[in-house]
Amino acid sequence: MRVDVVSIFPEYLAPLDLSLIGRARRDGLLDLAVHDLRDFAHDRHRTVDDTPFGGGAGMVMKPEPWAAALAHVVAAGSRPGAPVPHLVVPGPGGVPFTQALAHELADQEWLAFACGRYEGIDERVYEHAAERMPVTVVSLGDYVLNGGEVAVLAIVEAVARLLPGVVGNAASLLEESHEGGLLEYPVYTRPAVWDDDGTTREVPPVLLSGHHAEIGAWRHAQRVERTAARRPDLVPAAATVTGLDDLEVR
Ligand code: ADE
Repeated sequence: MRVDVVSIFPEYLAPLDLSLIGRARRDGLLDLAVHDLRDFAHDRHRTVDDTPFGGGAGMVMKPEPWAAALAHVVAAGSRPGAPVPHLVVPGPGGVPFTQALAHELADQEWLAFACGRYEGIDERVYEHAAERMPVTVVSLGDYVLNGGEVAVLAIVEAVARLLPGVVGNAASLLEESHEGGLLEYPVYTRPAVWDDDGTTREVPPVLLSGHHAEIGAWRHAQRVERTAARRPDLVPAAATVTGLDDLEVR
């Protein structure tokens, strides 16, 4: 997968060199380029923002640098027969980022991310881009970040780990929270009995039983209980997916 990110803070994306994502890049599974929006400004001050028409607080990102930057991304990444990128613009006004959307994005050959700052990007940029490529505005959640960079870190990590070969044990992806509509079950490791501060904490005995069917049933029950307790909003969907019609919401 190819990924391009346009930002006025390219250094913000440095963590994409680390850990699993960094290794995926070095292994050639992820071809990621970060571009500085200011390189596409037209004046010697490298201006990318201006005051909003109609008044109001803050600054708005100008359209011309964005059009130039996105044209550069498309030209730099295009190969004969290659698609255009799917443009993702992180913003609190977007569609919610979910595991389902992560899977959809992971199916794309090429993603481009446009990181807005200030009060946002001139609306005409979205129209201009949408005439050239698919565009999706994506929100991490119902809160406001200072810009799109932190959201890009989260989205790229969630998407890249779904690419074949990025996560060593593909089976581990299947049992995770949000896969199959339920949260993950609790996990334990050695020691089986842990004494700390005068309190003894034991691993649930079923996990030491070696009885795989019972362990599976226990884990499933834990997922259902956790989902009902922490994310009751997920329970109707989970009940449909897993046939748990008699699920009780606590
Ligand atoms: N940029 C600012 N707030 C955001 C949010 N909640 N999600 C994604 N991008 C954002």
